[in-house]
Amino acid sequence: MCGIVGYIGYRSAWDIVIKGLHRLEYRGYDSAGVALMNGGLKILKKAGKVSDLEAFAVDADKTGTTGMGHTRWATHGEPSDRNSHPHQSGDGKLSIIHNGIIENYAVIKEALIAKGHVFKSDTDTEVLIHLIEEIQTDSVDLLEAVRLALNKVIGAYAIVVMSKDFPDQLIAARKGSPMVIGVGEGEYFIASDATPIVEYTKNVIYLKDLEIALLKRDELIVKSIDNIIQTPYIQELSLKLEMLEKGGFEHFMLKEIYEQPRSVRDCMRGRIYPIEGMVRLGGIKDYAEKLKNAERIVIIACGTSWHAGLVGEYLIEEFARVSVEVEYASEFRYRNPIISEKDIVIAISQSGETADTIAAIELAKERGATIFGICNVVGSSIPRLTHAGVYTHAGPEIGVASTKAFTGQVTVLTLMALYIAQLKGTINNAKLVNLLTELDEIPALIERCFKEDKKIALIAEKFKDSPNCLFLGRGSGFPVALEGALKLKEISYIHAEGYPAAEMKHGPIALIDADMPVVFIATKNSSYEKVISNIQEVKARKGKVIAIVTEGDKIVKDMVDYVIEIPESNEAFLPLLATIPLQLLSYHIAVLRGCNVDQPRNLAKSVTVE
Ligand code: F6R
Repeated sequence: MCGIVGYIGYRSAWDIVIKGLHRLEYRGYDSAGVALMNGGLKILKKAGKVSDLEAFAVDADKTGTTGMGHTRWATHGEPSDRNSHPHQSGDGKLSIIHNGIIENYAVIKEALIAKGHVFKSDTDTEVLIHLIEEIQTDSVDLLEAVRLALNKVIGAYAIVVMSKDFPDQLIAARKGSPMVIGVGEGEYFIASDATPIVEYTKNVIYLKDLEIALLKRDELIVKSIDNIIQTPYIQELSLKLEMLEKGGFEHFMLKEIYEQPRSVRDCMRGRIYPIEGMVRLGGIKDYAEKLKNAERIVIIACGTSWHAGLVGEYLIEEFARVSVEVEYASEFRYRNPIISEKDIVIAISQSGETADTIAAIELAKERGATIFGICNVVGSSIPRLTHAGVYTHAGPEIGVASTKAFTGQVTVLTLMALYIAQLKGTINNAKLVNLLTELDEIPALIERCFKEDKKIALIAEKFKDSPNCLFLGRGSGFPVALEGALKLKEISYIHAEGYPAAEMKHGPIALIDADMPVVFIATKNSSYEKVISNIQEVKARKGKVIAIVTEGDKIVKDMVDYVIEIPESNEAFLPLLATIPLQLLSYHIAVLRGCNVDQPRNLAKSVTVE
């Protein structure tokens, strides 16, 4: 987490950095700060959001064409002015911004204190800039001092360093945290992702782990941190500026919910052939034989991506008849998991940067497994670590709560399930033709779900003050319930739980009373009658029931307090539709409660710490 931006060139560094920080605010918003080269090294920083920093700096002299900025998600040290980045060396000549965690900072700090260094903050980052200061001498220039310091630290970092003595340089380096360099004419940009860069240049370099870069207005030198010169590879960005704007919607989250007909369509484009009954997944086709013979697939992910993995388990087992296990990456990495070269591991991640998922991939790789990635951010770390993969193509997701990325992940998993089934022959061509024809209709059916939006807003009005909420579903409706509960709690701060509907009677039923809203996934599918029994159990205890039902359903309607309709579809595709009203319900409740929907408290979009 934490967002970093740097600029060296001929334009106003403040303007570029502040705009960039707004774009990166999804990565953390506990505090923000900027360093500018204007005469000396000028630092402006403040606890709070980027807008608080702007207000604080309104009268400051912000001229200068070299600068860097940071938006923080606190790890070491509370969010405060003092702990905000940039941090400075003891003599004030050096400044640093950092995304990541320096794990051995305490030992280094102790040694530096013994040498007379005095620290002003509680952060691990300040230790690193003091270490650089300690190493730098008349015969060790800035680049070399940073390089030598990085050889002494354990942990993850993406850093930018500025020095009063080298006013026409920026030094950047990364290990385990992302960093992109934008290449302009007489100017360079640095950022945690390409979003602050795209409006200035399409040419970017993704700095690799353990690389360090020296940027001047007209020169870029990249080295490995063991001092070997590297040839950077310049790529063209496919990102477009309009993808980063709200496009008339009040919030990014709402825009992204409404983008799903398009994003799901983009995800399927060129991959499904309904007439022929064929799925093509170019990204993993070289592993067809391996997939055909796989006896087990292990899915690793965190949060919403883990929920998508649970949907994938249903689909892959149903269609391809391969045993699937779904693991939290954070648990998997610290067990001694039984993984061998016979296994296929699928890592799911929107950002492609989640630290726990990366560590789990590395572990599975060490044990010889074949690793596939399902990621949204093109060029992020996970697609580079995995053997092969399939992008979700949902486009940039800015709202911190995942919406279109989730349906993108579920779409890819649906395609993978059908692809493996096609390879193994576990479903025949006629069935594949039918399934793909129905799948092809899903974007239009998602569009139809939006018809209920006004009604959902009215339901939200009724339940906005409830302190708790239960979400229940069966089969693939269970991960949908989990995802519905996560969405509600993360953006509205209402306590919410997702459960398999039949598990309710083993404990959660004790919570049901006239004040408890219970959201059921009660569409017409193989568990419809069973879900109806569970609804009756709730109604018998006076619980308030909101049911997601198939269009035209009268039976459930007569039984419950509110229904939200979704179009009829094949049961396999239910998660792609039933998720939509739950996203909207959370959204409206959060808005009515006055919550910051796009930037919920304590969260960050890209969790690059374990
Ligand atoms: C919730 C949400 C998170 C992420 C989780 C994993 O709305 O977005 O739970 O799903 O932090 O992130 P990625 O998918 O980037 O690995």
